[in-house]
Amino acid sequence: MENLKTQVGIIGAGPAGLTLAHWLKKNGISSVILENRSREYVEGRVRAGLLEQNTVDILTELGLANRLRKEGQEHHGVYLNFDGERTRLPFGELTGGRNIWIYGQQEVVKDLTDAWLKEGETLLFKAEATELKNFETDSPEIVFEHNGEKGIIECDFIAACDGFHGIGRKTLPTENFREFTVTYPFSWLGILANVAPSSDELIYAYHERGFALHSMRSETVSRLYIQVDNDDDVSNWPDEKIWEELSIRLGTKDWELKSGPIFEKSITPMRSYFIDNMQFGNLFLAGDAAHIVPPTGGKGLNLAIADVKHLVDGLTDFYQNNSRESLNNYSKTALKRIWRAQDFSNFMTTLFHKQGEHGAFKYQLQKAKFDYIKTSKAYATTIAENYVGMPFEAFED
Ligand code: FAD
Ligand code: PHB
Repeated sequence: MENLKTQVGIIGAGPAGLTLAHWLKKNGISSVILENRSREYVEGRVRAGLLEQNTVDILTELGLANRLRKEGQEHHGVYLNFDGERTRLPFGELTGGRNIWIYGQQEVVKDLTDAWLKEGETLLFKAEATELKNFETDSPEIVFEHNGEKGIIECDFIAACDGFHGIGRKTLPTENFREFTVTYPFSWLGILANVAPSSDELIYAYHERGFALHSMRSETVSRLYIQVDNDDDVSNWPDEKIWEELSIRLGTKDWELKSGPIFEKSITPMRSYFIDNMQFGNLFLAGDAAHIVPPTGGKGLNLAIADVKHLVDGLTDFYQNNSRESLNNYSKTALKRIWRAQDFSNFMTTLFHKQGEHGAFKYQLQKAKFDYIKTSKAYATTIAENYVGMPFEAFED
């Protein structure tokens, strides 16, 4: 029986759990992290790539962005394509100089895990939280299984940073929150390929054959996505077919897509989901545990880090000033940004995907929006400021 004692018991070594642990430590608060997967699995899991300025600033402040700032790419704009016509949103001009960064989520996870373990802190891999107890009291407990043995973490607070399928949300008393969910009638087939990016900035494209996105990971690795049906399968997509489709959907005048060996292929469903109360007693949820957005706005990881900021504020206020006020307001504060991100992610998804029902009508609305982006600086600005991420002050009372 493994018995551990800490101030904050954290479930999940994804971006939310790891950032929370580091930030609490900086503020003098102890924590222990449980992760049910192996280190290799978590560090190899291919997901996000777009980091908002807020996220990069936080990681920098925590001393965790050295490699990110060396190997990541700072982007000053984004390309939007519609029916083969391309326009660009320049962030500098539209957002007063806020930018985005491209750096793989699994690289963030590697950097944060390395730093945590190097500092001699506790992170148990292949350790699954199986039961959360007494979180309505001052002495919550996390029951877990590790190496075939049962363990318990005694703590003051439980932070469930355990993703969409975690135990945190399943444990929250159901009468405590409402859930909101939309499943879109399409998915993304994502690839990683050993080929230099064909663009200096990301390209989001609407095409009558469906959405496509050109992103990247480095000077030699490209990350691309195409819209596919929900019941599609990677086996239907040999490499040549993917490149051909990408080249058609992303195509524009005087531009060519370079292709290369594909080394990762997977299909992700598109979903919007959130609950409207992310806490009960001394149990708090952060990140994908409480909300999912379709990835078209690049918001998921960034929202997870924003939740963590509010949770750190609350916990720090509790330990330093013996006040629960900020903790009590955690959900309310975090939900303002979450709603904004839900709306923006839905907007981007609706703007760029080929629609099924009422397709002809929706197409005209999509086209009207794209034409408006080209002619109105005000409209372009609302998109750009959401895309790079609103400053924290924007949601303060
Ligand atoms: P997770 O990363 O899911 O971490 C949760 C961890 O908890 C996992 O490691 C899991 O193994 C562990 N866990 C679960 N249950 C237990 C348990 N019972 N005990 C112990 N551990 C447990 N977001 C962006 O911001 N920008 C993007 O460009 C972007 N692109 C994306 C592209 C794709 C294809 C996908 C799928 C997602 C994308 N996202 C993007 C979303 C982003 O990846 C997620 O929002 C992010 O991973 C959320 O981090 P998290 O720490 O909350 O959860
Ligand atoms: C990515 O690089 O994986 C990425 C970038 C932007 C998105 C989604 C995914 O909107």
